[in-house]
Amino acid sequence: MTSQLHKKGEIWSARFSEPMSDLVKRYTSSVFFDKRLALIDIEGSLAHSAMLSAQQIISKDDDAAIQRGMEQIRSEIIRDEFEWQIDLEDVHLNIEARLTALIGDAGKKLHTGRSRNDQVATDIRLWLRVEIDRIIALLKSFRGVLLDLAERNSDTILPGFTHLQVAQPVTFGHHLLAYVEMFTRDTERMLDCRKRVNQLPLGAAALAGTSYPIDRRQVAKILGFDGICANSLDAVSDRDFAIEFTAASALIMTHFSRLSEELVLWMSPGVSFIDLADRFCTGSSIMPQKKNPDVPELARGKTGRVNGHLVALLTLMKGQPLAYNKDNQEDKEPLIDTVDTVVDTLRIFTEMTSGITVNSDTMRAAASQGFSTATDLADYLVKRGLPFRDAHEAVAHVVRICVDRGHDLLDLNLGKLRAILPEVASLLGDDVFNCLTLEGSVASRNHAGGTAPEQVRAAIIAARTKLSL
Ligand code: ARG
Repeated sequence: MTSQLHKKGEIWSARFSEPMSDLVKRYTSSVFFDKRLALIDIEGSLAHSAMLSAQQIISKDDDAAIQRGMEQIRSEIIRDEFEWQIDLEDVHLNIEARLTALIGDAGKKLHTGRSRNDQVATDIRLWLRVEIDRIIALLKSFRGVLLDLAERNSDTILPGFTHLQVAQPVTFGHHLLAYVEMFTRDTERMLDCRKRVNQLPLGAAALAGTSYPIDRRQVAKILGFDGICANSLDAVSDRDFAIEFTAASALIMTHFSRLSEELVLWMSPGVSFIDLADRFCTGSSIMPQKKNPDVPELARGKTGRVNGHLVALLTLMKGQPLAYNKDNQEDKEPLIDTVDTVVDTLRIFTEMTSGITVNSDTMRAAASQGFSTATDLADYLVKRGLPFRDAHEAVAHVVRICVDRGHDLLDLNLGKLRAILPEVASLLGDDVFNCLTLEGSVASRNHAGGTAPEQVRAAIIAARTKLSL
C-alpha cells in the first residue's frame, strides 16, 4: 500500500502531510558517518533474518532471498558502488531500501520484530567489539616493542627526575617498564570493557520488546555475543559501553601524551638522550637545521580530542530519559574518531619506538650531574647508625659545599669528605665511594619493583608472560 506521499526515500510519509524540509534532512541524516557500520549492519540483519525464519515468523524462501540480496549489497559496498542517499537518512534505511529494490516483498519483511533502535545499538556493539580486539592486539605489539627496548637497556643509566630536577639515577629499562605497566593496565581495561560491550540488544525492538515469538539467544549465538541485554528499555538506550570505551581510550592517549612529552624532551638538542628515525620527524620550512619530533607532539595534541569525545559522550547521555532518543545518533562520530585516533597512534608508536636510537653516554653523563647519588650517601650514614634526618642534613651540607666549589660528590676523596663532615667522620670509610657511583646506586635498589638491572631483567620476564593476556 502506497500513499501519494510515500515516494522513494520517505519511509514514514503516510503519516505526514508535507515532505521533510531539506534543511531537516541534512540535519537529521547520519549516513555520511554511520555508513562505516554498513558491513556489520548486514551481519546483524542476516542473523535476525535467520532467526525469523527458524522461528517461522518469515518463510525460508524469504530468508534465502534476504541472504542473496544482502550478498549483492555487500559486494556493492566493498566495490564502492553502493549509492548512499541522504534522503534515506542512515545506513540502516539505505541498506533496507536497496534490499527491497533488489528482492521485492521479502525485503520488506526483514524489519519484522525489529526497530532501528535495537538495530543500531547492536551494530555499534558489534563494530566496537572488532575495534576493541584490534586495539588489544596493537597494545600487545607495542608493549612487546617497549619490552625489547627495555631489555637492550636494562643496564643503561639515566637520571630519574622529580619536578623535572635530577633526583636519583635509574636504569632506562626500568623507566620504560613504567610505560609497560600503564599500557598493560590499558589492555586490562579494554578487556574488561569488552565484556559489557558484548551483550545483544536486538529483540528490544523500539523499546518494549516485540509480540513475535523471537529467539534472542539464537541471534546472540550467531553474532558471537556473550549474552543478551536483560531489559529492553536499557538495551536501546544504554551507551555506557561507549563511554567506558572512550574513557579507557582517553587513558591510553594520556599515557601516550606522557611518553610523548618525554620523547620530545629527550630529543631536544640540550638533552639528546635519544634520537627518532628521520622518517618520523619533519623539517622546518625556514630553519634548515631543524628536525622536529612532530609525531609525539601530535599524539600529545590528539589526547585532547579523545578527552573531548569522552566529555561529549557523557554530556550526550546526561539527563536522557528512557528509552531511545535521537540524541544517541551523536554517539557515532566521537566513537569512530576515538577508535581511529587510538589505532593510528598505537601503530605509529610501535614502529617509531622500535627504531629509537639511545645515546647511553649522554644519559650517563647527565646522571652524573645534579648530585643524583646524594640519597645514597645519606643511606650509607644511616646504615652506620646515624638517624635519617641527621644524615639528610649532613649530606645537604656536603652538596651545598660542592655547589659552592663547583664540583660533584664523586670529585671528593675520603679526606675531603671527612673534613666537610667532622662530626660523622668516624662513620665514613673508603667504601662510601662504592655507593656514590651510578652503578652502585642503581644496583643497590635490588628489590621487587626497584631499578637494579637484575630486577629489570626479572620484571621483563614477568611482563612478557602477561603479554598473552
Ligand atoms: N540513525 C539512528 C541512530 O543512529 C538510528 C535509530 C533511529 N531511531 C529512531 N527512532 N529515529 O541512532
